[in-house]
Amino acid sequence: MAWAEWTTFLRQSKDEFMTTGAIGPSGPFLADALCREIRRPDRGPWKILEAGPGTGAVTRRLVRYLRPGDTLTAVEINPSLAEFLRKSFRDNPVMAEKAHQVEIVEANLLDYPGEGVFDTAVCGLPFNNFPLPLTKDLMAAIERLLKPGSLLSYFEYYGIRRLRIALGRKGETLDKLTAMDDFLVGRERQLGESTEMVWWNLLPAMCRRLRMPARG
Ligand SMILES: C[S@@+](CC[C@H](N)C(=O)[O-])C[C@H]1O[C@@H](n2cnc3c(N)ncnc32)[C@H](O)[C@@H]1O
Repeated sequence: MAWAEWTTFLRQSKDEFMTTGAIGPSGPFLADALCREIRRPDRGPWKILEAGPGTGAVTRRLVRYLRPGDTLTAVEINPSLAEFLRKSFRDNPVMAEKAHQVEIVEANLLDYPGEGVFDTAVCGLPFNNFPLPLTKDLMAAIERLLKPGSLLSYFEYYGIRRLRIALGRKGETLDKLTAMDDFLVGRERQLGESTEMVWWNLLPAMCRRLRMPARG
């Protein structure tokens, strides 16, 4: 499985780098950091959103922590990755056991309908890889889909954006990265609840958690 997962991810990363935005699946420590909210002992049954599950590195962890009555909706834009994930739910006995609680939606997250649908979201979308308007639209889509007061957990590879800004020459890319930094740091200032540094990952990553404003 691990070999098939890596070859699938690398192939998609080569063919669809803009949407894949990584050279490999997230490791277990990053997956655990992203699942922190779902492991809260004091919660009832939840509707959980996973944006960009890829080959399922984080999905496998989410499934492990699913409780009776929870549902997990995994929205994946890439048909090959969505098919890989569907196959995992057929072939992997631990995942198959919880398959009735999981829906894999092969779609662009932007097109997922509804408002205030989910109790929490875990996001693997590579925001820094997208043009800024797309990042803003995707962030807005996630915020639309989340209930007031709920938590979004997402990650960024540590320091990469700032490093590219520091090393960049004046021009369009530098302007885009600076504007992206302003946008993501702005969201963090407004909604940031906590961050968690995960050193033990293929590329060290920062797990960020944003709390949606409560209604009223
Ligand atoms: C960096 S990979 C993360 C994969 C996995 N969550 C992990 O951590 O290993 C980003 C994933 O987001 C998916 N993706 C990118 N844009 C998307 C969109 N607009 N809607 C749904 N999925 C998207 C990609 O196809 C890819 O599977």
